[in-house]
Amino acid sequence: CGIVGIVGKPNATEIIIKGLEKLEYRGYDSAGLFVANRTSGSLVKAQGRIKNLSDKLTPDVTGTIGIGHTRWATHGQPSEENAHPHTSQSHRLVLVHNGVIENFEELKSNFLAADKFIGETDTEIVVHLIEFFMSQGLTTKEAFKKSLEEIQGSYAFALVDKEDPETIYVAKNKSPLLVGLGDGFNVICSDAMAMLEQTNRFVELVDGETVVVTADEILIEDQKGNQVFRDSYEAQLDLSDIEKGTYPYYMLKEVDEQPAVMRKISQAYLSQQGDCQIDEALLKEMSSSDRIYIIACGTSSHAGWVGKKIIETLANIPVEIHLSSEFGYNMPLLSEKPFFLFLSQSGETADSRQVLVKINELTYPSLTITNVAGSTLSREATYTLLLHAGPEIAVASTKAYTAQIAVLAVLAKALGQQKNRLVAKEFNLVHELGLIATSMESVISEKELIQQLVTAYLTDTRNAFYIGRGVDYYVSMEAALKLKEISYIQAEGFAAGELKHGTIALIEEGTPVLGIITDEITGSHTRGNLKEVESRGAHTLVIASEGLARPTDQLILPNVHPLLSALLSVVPTQLIAYYATLQRGYDVDKPRNLAKSVTVE
Ligand code: G6P
Repeated sequence: CGIVGIVGKPNATEIIIKGLEKLEYRGYDSAGLFVANRTSGSLVKAQGRIKNLSDKLTPDVTGTIGIGHTRWATHGQPSEENAHPHTSQSHRLVLVHNGVIENFEELKSNFLAADKFIGETDTEIVVHLIEFFMSQGLTTKEAFKKSLEEIQGSYAFALVDKEDPETIYVAKNKSPLLVGLGDGFNVICSDAMAMLEQTNRFVELVDGETVVVTADEILIEDQKGNQVFRDSYEAQLDLSDIEKGTYPYYMLKEVDEQPAVMRKISQAYLSQQGDCQIDEALLKEMSSSDRIYIIACGTSSHAGWVGKKIIETLANIPVEIHLSSEFGYNMPLLSEKPFFLFLSQSGETADSRQVLVKINELTYPSLTITNVAGSTLSREATYTLLLHAGPEIAVASTKAYTAQIAVLAVLAKALGQQKNRLVAKEFNLVHELGLIATSMESVISEKELIQQLVTAYLTDTRNAFYIGRGVDYYVSMEAALKLKEISYIQAEGFAAGELKHGTIALIEEGTPVLGIITDEITGSHTRGNLKEVESRGAHTLVIASEGLARPTDQLILPNVHPLLSALLSVVPTQLIAYYATLQRGYDVDKPRNLAKSVTVE
């Protein structure tokens, strides 16, 4: 979910709508806003996209203060009724919330048993609870703070009291929230991107703090009630980075940006002589560990698999990959000197953060590799490396995946060099990343061919398989995820050799099976597996690197360093997913049921 708010500007409605549009990547099941001035207030909500909300606005919905919300449903259906803001029983309090309140049933029975009008969601309980404490004589701020003491779970809250329409009360725990500073106004937002048109100066908030935001000041208080003074920082974001420009979809823009991102990573981390510019303390700590645990979700975990291969080869340190949502509550037996590496585009994913909190309690060292400077996972880990990919807005991740692999390659080389390993010293990453960038450009220029292949192979299909071995298998998992998350074709990425041990039963006449072949040693085996499915009716398509290609292969990739082949072989699969989605008439950037940054567990 995403939150915005502003106090102190006459066009609050317009600013909130624009801000919510920028936050739509965080969810788009429903949206709502509340705006007010001294004499009146308006609450408007709509199911679905921000567009539906702005279509409902009438000229009288104006104000100098306001809060808005775009929702990714957790408790309660994605209906208009369950959209935020929620109001208290007397309608005096208006609240938006991002997160999940775990003890809401308990709060309801302990404090609100007599309240018959509470709706379906956990947020409604909170706003009723605040009003309940006010009915016992507490001020708005006191009641807000008292409620926070009772609440268990994750939250970013913004609260407005209609009787004092010049103040926004905010608080956060585990969910992101920033305060932005303006001249004669102040803003709040889940992501700086949302309010960049208003200001580029932001103040980070820490879990458990409460902030009183008015047009002229922000007052931060810690849990004990002590006033906190914190410097603001300048958001290193450019408005033009977050515009679509002439592209029909962000995803296509982001696919096209990948060669530039590769060059940027090379510039940021490597000298022409091949030295890696990475914090010495980080390298020391990592290279002295006996095992690296990569913790990630979704696409980031797929990048982790590729990174494992590169780190193990260049740095000779064993690497394990774990899904965050599994790891935290089902921790494996750890090695003696573990090092934790968090991979997260957004740096906000709650599943990953939950693990980091535990790792910090155990005082293990950690590194976050993220696209967002100042994000929660970055702040809370011992070290951070940035992806330098620029904002990624399409829900389906593309350039962040390749950026993660490239940064992991830099890290692997640096670790290997630190350990004096010849294989790492001889790995000319500046050259190899340059080659990747130009090779990506050549694949990207094959859009027409890719579109034709989509028409030939994926029209009307209900399911599809990507298969490969080794790194090609890792890319197959990502390729399948891309395809299913936006085109809704049920796709699986499979280890080519494993197919015959069960899943091959799903192959029918015409089932598309896409084979990825960039690995010399296993390529011929994958070809054998493609033959096995072909003889059972599958419609096979081969993506192969030039050196291993056969004349009948449909997509040929330029040769690149085998350790980095994933950076290239994933690109056509991103475009396949894109065109399959276009062909089916779905919204490429905003697939159903998903959000880009999932800040609930
Ligand atoms: C969400 C997104 C995925 C993403 C995953 C992890 O589920 O829809 O595309 O891979 O979160 O996100 P992160 O920001 O931690 O990489």
